[in-house]
Amino acid sequence: MAVKEYYGNDITVRFDLDRCIHAAVCVRTIPEVFDTKRRPWVLPDAGEADQIATVIRRCPSGALHYEYTDPAAPLEQGHLPATVRTADGEPLWVEGSVLIAHDGIELRETRATLCRCGSTGNQPFCDASGPCTEWRHHPH
Ligand code: FES
Repeated sequence: MAVKEYYGNDITVRFDLDRCIHAAVCVRTIPEVFDTKRRPWVLPDAGEADQIATVIRRCPSGALHYEYTDPAAPLEQGHLPATVRTADGEPLWVEGSVLIAHDGIELRETRATLCRCGSTGNQPFCDASGPCTEWRHHPH
């Protein structure tokens, strides 16, 4: 599935459904902007751009990204060193500035959940199709 873009006056939100593991940080924090029962489900002008950016930076899978309309606005920066958190039955939780290389494709990222069970249909990312879905019952 292609990445969908949602344009606001001050910020554009990008969403990759294939990478979403339904952590739901977005819908829980600012439901006026992110509401999966509404179409379109993202309304960037329903919130403050800085708040939207802050919430998106907490999206662990990297399914959500943003870009300010103002070209002088800072881009999202991943911290260094990046961290990879592991727990039994969960994907690999990657946070920080990384270069993900897979099948000859390289992707710069600041957040990602990588599949460690082998069930995903979207390698190398977790698509929440394997036993990893249990992690939601044990939130961090
Ligand atoms: S870890 Fe989630 S699909 Fe493999």
